[in-house]
Amino acid sequence: VKTAVLISGRGSNMVALVTAAQDPNYPADIALVISNRPKAKGLGRAQELGVTAISIDHKAYATREAFEAELDKALSDAKIELICCAGFMRVLTPWFINRWEGRIINIHPSLLPKYKGLNTHARALDAGDREHGCSVHWVSAELDGGAVIKQMSIPIDHRDTAESLADRLLPLELALYPKALAQVARDIKN
Ligand code: GRF
Repeated sequence: VKTAVLISGRGSNMVALVTAAQDPNYPADIALVISNRPKAKGLGRAQELGVTAISIDHKAYATREAFEAELDKALSDAKIELICCAGFMRVLTPWFINRWEGRIINIHPSLLPKYKGLNTHARALDAGDREHGCSVHWVSAELDGGAVIKQMSIPIDHRDTAESLADRLLPLELALYPKALAQVARDIKN
């Protein structure tokens, strides 16, 4: 399944997906990486891995819809069948979601449906939760509200800070996302 990864930053989840997809038996092919930020470190990392990587700077467009039209064109031109958001920090409008719903997934650093949105680690800590985790879910019009595909969890240690929690959670994300994408890609193929 021809797949694109949308990033905004360092792209560690994108690297994990690209690395997993280098296995010839992996059911998805990461054909394109797109960043909304031209300076995203992930663009260089994608290029080092031999993946076409482009930036579409959202600041260059007067409206969200104009930016998304450009994004949609790049994806359609590349004949992309599935989108993985990975640290992509733009809220997608219903226009884009309507075109891609059912073919777009995201990774979110919480045990959804808990803690949609930002600052998930601090919120889990502040709530006194005993565990935290990450979720790969379908992207829908509601931010971080789509059905969960796969989750992984870790116990919260009483000495944890939001930072230490994020640091301990990232390796789980990097393990979870390639498994979740493989599951979705196999379902699409069958
Ligand atoms: C990850 O923690 C991811 O869960 C969240 O933003 C961060 C992006 O990290 N969406 P990276 O860009 O994949 O390194």
